[in-house]
Amino acid sequence: MTRSNVVPTGLNSLEYAQLLPKVLDAALAYLDALPEKPVVVPNNDPELHQVMGGPLSVGGSAPEAVLERLVRGGDLGTVPSSSSRYFGYVVGGALPVALAADWLATAWDQCGALYDLSPLISILEEICRGWLVNLFQLPRQTQIAFTPACTYANLTCLSAARHAVLARHGWDVESRGLDGAPQVTVLMSETIHASVPRSLRVLGLGNVRTLSTDASGRIDISQYEDELNRVPDGPLIVCGQVGEVNTGIVDPLRRLSALAHERGGWVHLDGAFGLWAAATDRRYGLLDGLELADSWATDAHKWLNVPYDCGMAFVADGDVQHDALKISPDYLHQENTEQRHAVGIGLHFSTRSRVIPVWAVLAQLGSDGVKEMIDRHCALARMLAALLAEEPYVEVLNEVSLNQVAVRFHRPDRDSDTHTMQVSAAFQQAGVAWASTSRWRGDAILRLSVINWATTEEDITQAATSLLDCHRHLIAS
Ligand SMILES: Cc1ncc(COP(=O)(O)O)c(C=O)c1O
Repeated sequence: MTRSNVVPTGLNSLEYAQLLPKVLDAALAYLDALPEKPVVVPNNDPELHQVMGGPLSVGGSAPEAVLERLVRGGDLGTVPSSSSRYFGYVVGGALPVALAADWLATAWDQCGALYDLSPLISILEEICRGWLVNLFQLPRQTQIAFTPACTYANLTCLSAARHAVLARHGWDVESRGLDGAPQVTVLMSETIHASVPRSLRVLGLGNVRTLSTDASGRIDISQYEDELNRVPDGPLIVCGQVGEVNTGIVDPLRRLSALAHERGGWVHLDGAFGLWAAATDRRYGLLDGLELADSWATDAHKWLNVPYDCGMAFVADGDVQHDALKISPDYLHQENTEQRHAVGIGLHFSTRSRVIPVWAVLAQLGSDGVKEMIDRHCALARMLAALLAEEPYVEVLNEVSLNQVAVRFHRPDRDSDTHTMQVSAAFQQAGVAWASTSRWRGDAILRLSVINWATTEEDITQAATSLLDCHRHLIAS
């Protein structure tokens, strides 16, 4: 048999020993440069295509050459989104211990689907379930599924919701599908994140009624009561949010759940970043009634600052989650019910061991550390809002109770949408800090999310100064 020049065989540590130190050097060089790196979105597409593309080579390349190309591609095309002055979208950084643990997870290359594929993952998932349920003060038996992102967590939770509300009306959706099923009504906030309606679409739940919100963006309870009175008796799901993506506002959770439960409904909460506020005593009051919901979705890659990707789906009644998603082909051994088998709780078979960096961060920070990080980000967001609001013609639109700051820029001689977009573009190009634009109540805004472990007061001052310079400069021009 001829031996290939390109496909390595025979496990020996030589190739790892040649490659991994190069990656360590490249990663350290990247991370060392990050504090001084302009915080901009690079625009090097032709060069990126040139360095990384071309036809797929027939003979392959040496792995060292592959890594060199990749490092070059990284220089050209990565956004410095783990910079302490990156406030775009709702991204979060990666704590050093999380990054290191993630590397180990990749070296171990475990599949977390079944206990006998990885006792470590199975047991870590169970341990983190307990830690997180305590941290968020959720019902003790709450089950968890680790997912690629909050979108999948919403989908996972809503699969359980669909199962439960139809079962309450005598319909087994897993065996019978939706044809001929009692119609499920879904009520959701008009400001809910787009991943919730998308999950509903995937699940075939089309009878969705949108609830209007008050000036702050919270579900208007009296309108909600009216809508509930109009809904025919039948399966009901209500979707609320813990942290709206632009403003961080939280729906009135206690009333939301109480009224839905009176109607036999299921309450699902999207808390992609906001659920982490439940970890801190100072913010728990904002989330009054959180524990009354039936399911909650969040991301660890946002406020826990683990690397991408890691979402989490929590369902209060673990049996319902299992009934909705269980799967039992003969080759997947789940006979021992004392052991955790993630394949029967989430939507995936194979999965990356996302729990490893989650466990590492929780183990390092402890509950006090998580609280401190969340509280610090909320305080920095308030500081940022205060610095901006002092300036004439700058309007902070939201109550900054969490980590999001929604800001709009005015000027006497031009419409505010245009000015806000021009200030935002100038700020993004200046490279001191970066934030993304959005719309709130139809108006253009710049939205800053303080969510990186590394961010300091100095970073906030620099970001505010750069932003206000752009605003003043445009007004003067
Ligand atoms: C409030 C909210 N819900 C859901 C999501 C979707 O999360 P993911 O991007 O992890 O799927 C986001 C993302 O920013 C979000 O902010």
